[in-house]
Amino acid sequence: MRRFRRLRQTKEMRSFVREHEVSVKDLIYPMFVIEGDNIKNEVTSMPGIYQYSLDRIDEELDRVKAAKIPAVLLFGIPEHKDEIGSGAYDDNGITQRCIRHIKDKYPSIIVIADVCLCEYTSHGHCGLVCEGHILNDETLPLLSKMAVSMAKAGADIVAPSDMMDGRVAAIREALDEEGFIDTPILSYSAKFASGYYGPFRDAAGSAPHFGDRKSYQMDPANGREAMREIEDDLEEGADMIIVKPALAYLDIMKEARECFDVPFITYNVSGEYSMVKAAAANGWIDEKRIVLENMIAMKRAGADRIITYHALDVAKFLEEEE
Ligand code: PBG
Ligand code: ZN
Repeated sequence: MRRFRRLRQTKEMRSFVREHEVSVKDLIYPMFVIEGDNIKNEVTSMPGIYQYSLDRIDEELDRVKAAKIPAVLLFGIPEHKDEIGSGAYDDNGITQRCIRHIKDKYPSIIVIADVCLCEYTSHGHCGLVCEGHILNDETLPLLSKMAVSMAKAGADIVAPSDMMDGRVAAIREALDEEGFIDTPILSYSAKFASGYYGPFRDAAGSAPHFGDRKSYQMDPANGREAMREIEDDLEEGADMIIVKPALAYLDIMKEARECFDVPFITYNVSGEYSMVKAAAANGWIDEKRIVLENMIAMKRAGADRIITYHALDVAKFLEEEE
């Protein structure tokens, strides 16, 4: 008989043989900055997550800094939206101003700027719309302008999440032309058309006003196609890759990690967060246990880093575990 239990007898022995670990260094915290003054709005479908106006966002940034979370992923919510998402590439837009603020006051926090038009378009789609179609090639120059504008504002990393074809190459070229040869691209390469984004669209006010995103985001049934998307983005110049959502797509993360040797980040999305929060609020699950178990599952699947709304909680839980 093999005695596996020998190595499970004590806390110390279990820790000694543990294969994977979650650290606060793994975490990336998504944040929402909204145009206006003195705003701290809790997102109804995401308890504990708030939209902050620029004058109050330090409350949250102070917590991020104190928790030693290395990076934030920033989403801006503009006051005015239009057909062509002008706010996305306005050098004085809400996101750009927030990036300048963070890099000025919290220079050690890595700022990742999400690059996508949906928070800025009146129709809520991630690209230009013509007669009900989401245009691909015509959208690329706007995404490029947006990425350059974010880099100019001081973004450390740009992360295109629109899922237009060819956008990584277009963004790389534009960044290089403007002198941002050292700004890395973190591409949402394997981003699935998922019901798990629902609460985010409340938080960012970015739900499409007609149709859905299935003509550009991936079909949840297609794992092999995800590898082709990743391969293509790497050829176009992506430096790091996001797989999204996380928990229902751990097979994609595991396979991607085996196929490609670049940093991989998984996005533990809004719906995954809200489900845990709702069950915990009802007393149906032990929040700390479930959250830490989800985190270790993502690491075990091969994620190098984790974008998660639980980041501040995880930092606290890890401290309690020490
Ligand atoms: C914008 C974007 C979305 C998310 C990140 N960037 C929403 C979407 O594609 O509809 C989802 C994040 C989440 O659910 O937490 N394209
Ligand atoms: Zn979008």
